[in-house]
Amino acid sequence: MLTETKMEELSGEVFERRRRRLMDEIGDGGVAIVVGPPMQNRSNDTDFPYRPSSDVLYLTGFREPEAVLLFAPGHDEGEFVMFVPERDEKKEQWEGRRAGPEGAVDRFGADAAFGLEELDEELPKWLEGREKLYYTLGSDKKFDRKVINWTQTLRHRRDGIPRVPGTVVDLRDLLHLARLRKSEEELELLRRACEISSEAHILAMKYCRPGMYEYELQALVEYHFRRSGGEFPAYSSIVGSGDNATILHYTDNRGPIGDGEVVLIDAGCEYQFYAGDITRSFPANGKFTPAQRDIYQAVLEAQKAAIDDLEPGLTYEQLQSNTHRRLTESLVDLGLLEGSVDELLEEKEYRAYYPHSIGHPLGVDVHDVGVMREDEDDDFELLQGMVLTIEPGIYVPADDESAPEEMRGVGVRIEDDVLITSDASENFTISCPKEVDEIEELVGSGDPSALKI
Ligand code: GLY
Ligand code: MN
Ligand code: MN
Repeated sequence: MLTETKMEELSGEVFERRRRRLMDEIGDGGVAIVVGPPMQNRSNDTDFPYRPSSDVLYLTGFREPEAVLLFAPGHDEGEFVMFVPERDEKKEQWEGRRAGPEGAVDRFGADAAFGLEELDEELPKWLEGREKLYYTLGSDKKFDRKVINWTQTLRHRRDGIPRVPGTVVDLRDLLHLARLRKSEEELELLRRACEISSEAHILAMKYCRPGMYEYELQALVEYHFRRSGGEFPAYSSIVGSGDNATILHYTDNRGPIGDGEVVLIDAGCEYQFYAGDITRSFPANGKFTPAQRDIYQAVLEAQKAAIDDLEPGLTYEQLQSNTHRRLTESLVDLGLLEGSVDELLEEKEYRAYYPHSIGHPLGVDVHDVGVMREDEDDDFELLQGMVLTIEPGIYVPADDESAPEEMRGVGVRIEDDVLITSDASENFTISCPKEVDEIEELVGSGDPSALKI
């Protein structure tokens, strides 16, 4: 059941190719700054684990905290510059090894590199003479202030009149278009993240028993992520039983798992910084009640139909509205909504039981670039090479007095990760069972003594 642990890493050439593409788009008149998030203190002298910025990872694979990347195509003193934590023997004894500027050049392909302490002194030199600055304002206000100060200082210099960037453009416009469509190497890592995530869900279903606590299943899932070489969970794992499954992003995971409840697990592994994102919903005792099964089937049919809809050129809006229609019809059949389907759709009544969207792009971030929201006007066409989640759900809160009693306190979501191919799609999480009979057979089939240490 547990597969062999293997570890793929992207080669330096892949990062080099990504940077070349970005620099070609920036052009000689431009300069780009990419900055990672600052460390976050947890308490006293303890910090939260550091997760580098997805853009820094995408362009370099560099994992150390607070790195700053600069791109100035054609610059005499180097077109790709890195600012990284300095080497410091004492600090490294406590906090881990650092590449330092030398390692940034030798191992990460920088043309020039400096310690973070040299940022104010060195970085402005690369802004001189450039017309356009590609930088994402608003993610780190302290860094925004630095950028403004550097450009202001250059502007007010009296020795000669250097051109300083007069235009600031959001870097995401360039970079995120490239991140949206996945290359072969990225697809390999995404496939592996999805495979590990599938195995973890199977493990949780196999060992689930009424009377356990939600966190015990979380522990099993996350144990499998880590033992398989996963860096972190790709987002906070959601393990909700009964009414807790109706809270969309429930992460307390502290409740008991009652006999007769449906358990919803939404968890994904981040492998080599690529995210899996799977949801499965299953009966804690291995047998759905008729009402639970009806809800489950409605979600499953909508999910499979949405996957069948996928092909390049389909618009996101169409994908959404197909699902709205299917789920509205089912909600009427289930007795959760009443009235004509067209009128219910017009009034978006499905939102009472299905308040989120059909899915989102997946990549280095779980909600990857090009995140699609129902209330945004922009529509998108699906493109070959995009990876999307497909995740409809029906959630009936326990206190919903208008719902049939036997349906109250039931939450079902089913989520797979799917690549848009040249003419349809490929489901990366197909190995995680979702048919009713497969799930009923799997749940509780593991020998509990196997979990005793
Ligand atoms: N786990 C968050 C999501 O499915 O989008
Ligand atoms: Mn999810
Ligand atoms: Mn998702």
